[in-house]
Order: sequence, then C-alpha cells, then structure tokens
Amino acid sequence: MQEIIEQLAAKRELARLGGGQKRIQAQHAKGKLTARERIELLLDAGSFEEWDMFVEHRCNDFGMGDQTVPGDGVVTGYGMINGRLVFVFSQDFTVLGGSLSEAHAEKICKIMDQALKVGAPVIGLNDSGGARIQEGVASLGGYAEIFQRNVTASGVIPQISLIMGPCAGGAVYSPALTDFIFMVKDSSYMFVTGPEVVKTVTHEDVSAEELGGALTHSTVSGVCDLAFENDVEAIMMLRRFFNYLPLSNREKPPIVRSAKRNEEPDYSLDTLVPANPNQPYDMHELIRKIADDGEFFELQPDFAKNIIIGFARMEGQTIGIVANQPLVLAGCLDIKSSIKAARFVRFCDAFNISIVTLVDVPGFMPGTAQEYGGIIKHGAKLLYAYADCTVPKVTLITRKAYGGAYDVMASKHLRGDVNFAWPSAEIAVMGPKGAVEIIFREEKGDPNKINAREAEYKTKFANPFVAGRRGYIDDVILPHESRKRIARSLMMLKNKVLENPTRKHGNIPL
Ligand code: HXC
Repeated sequence: MQEIIEQLAAKRELARLGGGQKRIQAQHAKGKLTARERIELLLDAGSFEEWDMFVEHRCNDFGMGDQTVPGDGVVTGYGMINGRLVFVFSQDFTVLGGSLSEAHAEKICKIMDQALKVGAPVIGLNDSGGARIQEGVASLGGYAEIFQRNVTASGVIPQISLIMGPCAGGAVYSPALTDFIFMVKDSSYMFVTGPEVVKTVTHEDVSAEELGGALTHSTVSGVCDLAFENDVEAIMMLRRFFNYLPLSNREKPPIVRSAKRNEEPDYSLDTLVPANPNQPYDMHELIRKIADDGEFFELQPDFAKNIIIGFARMEGQTIGIVANQPLVLAGCLDIKSSIKAARFVRFCDAFNISIVTLVDVPGFMPGTAQEYGGIIKHGAKLLYAYADCTVPKVTLITRKAYGGAYDVMASKHLRGDVNFAWPSAEIAVMGPKGAVEIIFREEKGDPNKINAREAEYKTKFANPFVAGRRGYIDDVILPHESRKRIARSLMMLKNKVLENPTRKHGNIPL
C-alpha cells in the first residue's frame, strides 16, 4: 500500500512537471504561463479537480514508445469561477508542443461530455502544435471527435476558447465552433495554413503575426472577440466575462446587484443627440449611462466598429446590447457589422439573455463592394437572428431608423416586445434629402422648391409620431428617463414565454 502511495506521489510529480523544467523555462521565456499556472489563475483558489492525470498516449511509432508523459500534454478537469462550475482543458506546450494525440483528444472529449450532462460551460486554453504528427489519422479522428462535441454542445452550454499559443491547420476549427474566442497578443496565432504554405501557393510574404495574430483576428477578420496583452490579463478578463453568462441554456445568467438605482434620471442624455442630423455622437455614452454601474463588457470593439455588441447588466441581470455606432460609417449596416451582430443575437437567444437594441441607422451600406460581397445574404443573417429570437427584446430609437435597417434592428414587426423612441427619432423609408430628390425629381433643378419639399418631408416624417400612431413605437420617451423605462420593460418581460413552431431547425442564410 505504502509503495502504491509513493508511486502515486511520484506519478503526480512527474505529471505536474509536464515536459520538464527546461521546457517550462522556455515557455516562461516566451512570456507564457504553463498549462497548470493558467488553470490556477483562472479558477477559484483550490477549486480545481483534475481528471486523467495518468492518461498516456498509446503510440509506438517513430520512437514514441519512449516519450510518454502522464497527462499527455493536456490538463483537464473542473473547478469554480466565482463559485460557479466550469469545465476546463489546458494544453501543455511543454509536452510535445501540446500536440493532440488520440489520448489527448479523449481527455478533452471526456470533460466536454460531462459538462453537457451537468450543464456547465467549457473553457479551452489552447496552446498546441496541432495534430500529433507521429499518430497520423488517430489524431485527426481525435480532432473530429472534439468538433462533433463542440457542435452538439452549441447553444446548450457556453463554450469559450482562449488562444494562448499556436493554433493552426484544422485545429482552428474547434475554437471556431465555440461561442467566443479570446487571443493573447504576440504569443498566439490562428491560421488554416501557415506562412510557408501561403508563400508556396499564393507567393505572398507574410509573417505568422500578420497572417493570424491577435491583432489581425481582432481587427481584420473578426475571428477573435478580444485580444489581450498577456496571459494574465486574458485570464483575469475571462473570469470577469464568465460572470455575465448562464451555466447552460437551462438557466438564467447570475444576478449581480448594483448600487445604482434604476429610477435615477440622467439629464446629460438630453443633449447626446446633436441638433444637426449629420453630426455623429458616441453611442457608448448611452450604453454606459443605461448600464448598471456604467459597466459594459464590449466584444469585438475593433472590428466592424459601426455596430457595438457586448454584455451589461440592468437590475443586476445580464443583458446583451446591440447598438449602431453613428461615429463609424454613420452607423450603417454592412456585411461585417451584420454578421457580427447576428452571431451575438443568436448567442443571447440561445442562452436566455434579454436583448436591448439601440438604433441610429441610416440604412444598409451601398456600393459594389457590398453587393458583390453578398450584403443581401449577410444582412439577412441579422434580420433572421432578430426575427427568430424569442428572448425579451427592448428597442430604443435615438435618431435615424431608415429603410430596411429600421425593420432589421429589432423593430416591433420582428416581435420587438417594447419599442421606444426619443423625440429626436426619424423613422422613415430614407433621409429627407434622398426622399424628395426621388419623389420630386422634376423639381430638382429648383433649389427653392426642393428645399421647401425637404422641409415638408422633415415635418411629416422626421419624427417618431407617424410610427407612434400605428403602435410601432410603444412610447416616445425623454432621453434622461431611458434607463428607468428600459429597466421597467425588462422587469415586465422577465417571465416572457414565446415559442417558435416545431421544426428540425430553421435555415439561416449562412
Ligand atoms: C508532434 C510536435 C508537434 C506536432 C510541435 N511538436 N508540434 N510534436 N506533433 N504537431 C514538438 C516539437 O517537435 C518539439 O519537440 C516541441 O513540440 C516544441 O516545438 P518547437 O518546434 O521546438 O517549438 P516552436 O519553435 O515554438 O514552434 C512551434 C510550432 C512548430 C510552430 C508549433 O513546432 C511547428 O510548426 N510544429 C508543427 C505544426 C504542424 O504542422 N502541425 C500539424 C498541423 S495540421 P522537442 O522534443 O524538440 O521539444 C493539423 C491538422 C489538424 O493540426 C486537423 C484537424 C482536422
């Protein structure tokens, strides 16, 4: 017995050492934490329950029989983040470059299966050279087993990927199937094929960082939701982010009470919208002023900046915020912003998170680039997401709500539950200038006539009352009472029940 206990201690010690002290130092020298240090930082102190520490790979080819390390390059188990259950896997780059063997994949699949059964999120800390080359197809099979579980768990439990090292080839598709991807600047990258293959095939000279670094994916491709300076910042922010999420689709997000009272008016909002309709303003200001404690956890802040998405709280309850940003491209909808917001709306709907939509949109972006890029299909994604979604939807139009974009942005017609407008709202098919130039084309040469027509159009349509008369707007509210009115609406909607007809699944325009 004593002998076994000693063996156990020795094995544990060996597993904790991973690929050995030298490789741990190399990991630190790159500014990276080890797999275990990352888990320690992510989870509440002492809460980690590790599984499969003694799992080893079963490969004997290419001298692999002599290269076994208990745990086989991935640390898996469960623990708590602020007292709430989470499953986690953390790839250990010090063991064969964190490469994925059949056994390594089985460990990940085991915690994913368990997380699905008990209804808790899965966080993956990725740091891997990809498929274990010595294992060949067994490793590819392992990836596919993970992909299948990513998809089966989608919409049931939140899945978050933190990329903290290499992630290349088909390996990128597991994070891509999860709900959120965070990356670490300078030490992580994701690409389907690396710089050498790119050079051979397309003759482009590009560094790994340019091709698939955190900056590229957070600003150009939109693959990643947030980019952080280092491992510690990424993990600390992930802990904060976790607090916004429910454990599964069977639950509501946690309540985090704030000191701020909902009934308090904020008079500074009365001057947020400039008198000149062509002058922009920062929609972040409104978001911060309606959110509990002014806190907003923004996602993809540097990608498709013409739309803002992220989580906040009202009366302590998580809400998803989608808002046009007049500061960028006048807040219009284009391909990137439609996709960005659509995916966010889908997440909120899957996980019982109410959606607050703040609207100031002059329409869809015109032009060949957009049309050739398929704005019709991509814009339809956002339309579909809003129309299909059954969680509480509260919408506030602050200024422009023109054309199809008015319909798309959680309008009453797409089952918006409560639709407010500020007195500055203009709800119309298009802006006054464009409208009169079409309706009164024959008067275009006469500035006096056309100006008079424009003024007439403005009086008629550049206000919230036409929509209000039809009940498309439930109330015209004063900006300073926005927080109170939205909070009351959300309170009223707390037990909302709405179900779509039974079907296998809809056919979202992918
Ligand atoms: C086995 C691997 C490995 C792998 C790295 N190692 N990747 N072992 N399979 N895929 C080992 C190295 O041999 C080395 O072992 C140790 O890990 C650290 O690697 P280094 O090269 O020393 O580290 P670094 O210089 O930081 O470079 C990291 C790297 C490079 C860029 C990831 O190792 C690399 O290019 N690896 C191969 C990547 C690759 O082609 N993977 C397959 C992708 S295709 P020692 O013993 O020397 O410390 C794929 C398909 C998935 O993944 C398909 C899913 C459908």
